[in-house]
Amino acid sequence: MPAEYYRSPEVYRRESETIFHRRWLPAGRADALTAPGEYRLLELEGEQLILVRDAGGQVRAHFNVCRHRGTRLCEEAQGRFARSIRCPYHGWTYDWRGRLVGAPNMPADFDKPSYSLRPAELAEWAGFLFVHLEGDPPPLAEALAPLAQRCTGWRLAELRVAHQEVYEVAANWKLLFQNYSECYHCPTLHPHLNRLTPYRDSSNDLEEGPILGGPMRLEGAAGSMTVGGSACAPPLSGDPDVAGRAYYYTIFPGFFLSLFPDYVLTHRLERLEIDRTRVTCQWLFAPEALGGTGFDPGPAVEFWDLTNRQDWHICELAQQGIGSRAYVPGPYSDLESMLGEFDRYYLGVLG
Ligand code: FES
Ligand code: FE
Repeated sequence: MPAEYYRSPEVYRRESETIFHRRWLPAGRADALTAPGEYRLLELEGEQLILVRDAGGQVRAHFNVCRHRGTRLCEEAQGRFARSIRCPYHGWTYDWRGRLVGAPNMPADFDKPSYSLRPAELAEWAGFLFVHLEGDPPPLAEALAPLAQRCTGWRLAELRVAHQEVYEVAANWKLLFQNYSECYHCPTLHPHLNRLTPYRDSSNDLEEGPILGGPMRLEGAAGSMTVGGSACAPPLSGDPDVAGRAYYYTIFPGFFLSLFPDYVLTHRLERLEIDRTRVTCQWLFAPEALGGTGFDPGPAVEFWDLTNRQDWHICELAQQGIGSRAYVPGPYSDLESMLGEFDRYYLGVLG
């Protein structure tokens, strides 16, 4: 795509309106909040949301903005509200569902129900939380239906996070999507990865729309994507699709889901600026593997931390080169068909 799509603040603003305020965006794992009253702050698209588990066990998302004079209600990145959510300015209090329950010195007939915290839509799929910042979204399950049929063997809802890394990348978010969507670069950039999944042994089973990707064959039928190529844990299930393959899917506009025989890797992307993206990467394993003696996710963590750093660096170099007056978009190879599809879909949505 022309350079403006990676560089123009005007494109960034249009993406907010047409994409990021109107799509389900990933918000981490639901099991990060276990007890009622537990919360964490989520930074997203320049907004700050309080994700809190309410008394009924449901996770909710509220804008971190007091309905009195707009003050941030909560500063700590995570914790547990003892009772209500109390504004530090004049002491208005809200319950975990966001309803205003106390407003000192306001008139007796003050209409509290009209001053609930502003909510964002929140929904859960397979243990992953997604939020939707504006409007009336389609059901999350509908949006993710094509993926759901393909992921049954990986027990996604049960998995637990064994490790997390957060990266900040000086590149536009779309360069990260495009980079994840091809293995053309694997022999040159990731020789360690290419040895385990030869780059030509890849195919796609979701080839158009907001979810793209498919499987790659693992060289070692009993192996996994780790330093050394051996699995770190028993296979997640006996499903015939699980063993011997790695699956990679992009979920527009902020999530990568990578499925391996013994674990699952996720990348959650947050746009920070036109040329800056934060990536939260999590390694998920079965609870019995995590609790087992001698369990070590190290070889999986090390493998992807290296791969991630190589990918982020090359995306930063691409961002820099695209900033040159010499840049004109070149042709895609057959190995980059998913990039063509991503670009088409993106441009369609952007209008
Ligand atoms: Fe929150 Fe006044 S701004 S109570
Ligand atoms: Fe890569």
